[in-house]
Amino acid sequence: MLKLGFGFVECGSVTPRPQGGNARPRLFRLAEDRAVINRMGFNNRGMEAMAARLARRARNGILGINIGANKDSADRSADYRAAFATLAPFADYIAVNVSSPNTPGLRGLQNRDELQRLLAIVTGERARMNSSVPILLKIAPDIDPGAVDDIAQVALAAGIEGIIATNTTIARPASLKSAQAHQSGGLSGAPLFMPSTVVLKAMRARVGSKLVLIGTGGVASGADAYAKIRAGASLVQLYTALAYDGPSLVARIKRELLALVNRDGLPNIAAAIGADVK
Ligand SMILES: Cc1cc2nc3c(=O)[nH]c(=O)nc-3n(C[C@H](O)[C@H](O)[C@H](O)COP(=O)(O)O)c2cc1C
Repeated sequence: MLKLGFGFVECGSVTPRPQGGNARPRLFRLAEDRAVINRMGFNNRGMEAMAARLARRARNGILGINIGANKDSADRSADYRAAFATLAPFADYIAVNVSSPNTPGLRGLQNRDELQRLLAIVTGERARMNSSVPILLKIAPDIDPGAVDDIAQVALAAGIEGIIATNTTIARPASLKSAQAHQSGGLSGAPLFMPSTVVLKAMRARVGSKLVLIGTGGVASGADAYAKIRAGASLVQLYTALAYDGPSLVARIKRELLALVNRDGLPNIAAAIGADVK
């Protein structure tokens, strides 16, 4: 992924114990909509397997590790703490994923009190380890403005470094044309672009210049990436568009971004961060 031209890569979500994920089929292409619905359910080999692999890796690029809780966990916060403790030594940042729609109850961790408690546990573990690895919280697009406020406040008070906006949506826009649009799970790709950008922009308006915001959701072109940056993203991620457009997408986006920066007479891309935010 780094060799395709990405500036950084995020892997996961990984959980403390291995788990198989949901029954197949669990991944659906909505080709007419340039979208995907997935209900993978954190299929992964567990944190120890990931740590063993990463221990053998040359540290030659920026790597984020995205952590989650096991589906059958009796104590979700303890899962995040364990995954943080095991994987932070290999990460350039840790993404705390509380926004997957495919682990029942997980998104409830975005509620004010639960979030406060969770972030205290994860930042507490970081302090205990004497680690300074940045912590970013990954949020859902399906939240109202009041929740954006709450999350911003809790994130700032907890002393984490950033927010990733957003994960997939459980909404099904009326515009969807594909036969698979009714499948349950998280919708990603083009139809997610607007709702995720709305949340990103609201978050930037709320936190000012204080946090790193990663914009993700429906990015498939330089113009999309530019819109995320103008809405407040300091970094941009994508996933679904890679499935449709293939590896050449990365170089194309960078070419298009550069043309937009030049068109607008900016000294560099950083000058565009938050340009559309009041
Ligand atoms: C097949 C698939 C699996 C995903 N698994 C995870 C996951 O385990 N953890 C997570 O935080 N996000 C997961 N996502 C969400 C993506 O990381 C991303 O936030 C979302 O798809 C929006 O970006 P996109 O429209 O560019 O795909 C997954 C998305 C897809 C399509």
